[in-house]
Amino acid sequence: MKSTLMMVLAAAGLAATPALAGPTEDLASTCNACHGLNGVSVGPTMPSIGGLPEIYLKNVMLQWKNGERYSATMGRHFKGYSDEEISSLATYFSKLPWVPVVQKADAKVIAQGKEASERCETCHGATGSEPDDDETPKINGQWAEYMHLEMLKYRTDAVKMPHRKMRGNTKKLDEADVEAVAKFYAAQPK
Ligand code: HEC
Ligand code: HEC
Repeated sequence: MKSTLMMVLAAAGLAATPALAGPTEDLASTCNACHGLNGVSVGPTMPSIGGLPEIYLKNVMLQWKNGERYSATMGRHFKGYSDEEISSLATYFSKLPWVPVVQKADAKVIAQGKEASERCETCHGATGSEPDDDETPKINGQWAEYMHLEMLKYRTDAVKMPHRKMRGNTKKLDEADVEAVAKFYAAQPK
């Protein structure tokens, strides 16, 4: 009896493993320490990556690998991966649900950010949840502090960020609006 039970439990355990088995899942599990379980980050400077568009994820990782995009640490990280591994990581994370982490902020600041976000709408959607193509990330419920830092990178010529239009658009923001825009998107549930 007892050993049958053990076998059933073992079988159930095995049945539960496939979600976390296989080479891509093994690689992806190394990202959890920083990006959170299923790519939902606990912030504040660490971005959520689960549910971002596949092409966006792939672009970013390849640009890091090839030294085409600024990074403090991630570039070195991806030098060790093949293009195929990067592709399958992008596919894996893109299939996870996007889980916005809704962050509170002062209502005045959010209103200021909303007003300043008008020129962002065409590409990111009114609340950042409806990117107009697969190269554009979702930004509703992304971490405010992370987005603020990213925008400062796009705004600074000396920092290598390849996307010309994103650079141009963030540069047009008033300095005082950059953080407010980040807080506006961070506060959007959908
Ligand atoms: C040591 C911590 C750490 C680990 C491990 C890590 N990352 Fe990151 N990741 C970061 C940080 C920090 C950023 C923010 C960009 C920056 O400052 O370099 C980032 C940014 C990213 C971004 C850009 C997100 C966006 O919204 O643009 C992607 C994609 C990404 N990481 C994928 C991965 C994948 C896939 C793995 C696992 C193979 C991984 N990372 C492992 C720390 C980490
Ligand atoms: C022409 C389309 C377009 C416009 C307009 C635009 N964006 Fe973007 N945005 C993008 C694309 C594409 C990316 C990814 C760029 C890359 O690969 O570096 C991006 C990236 C971002 C990111 C980084 C997100 C992350 O996960 O790393 C933030 C934050 C952001 N945009 C905010 C804004 C804000 C705020 C505005 C308005 C001032 C704006 N964007 C206007 C297309 C656009």
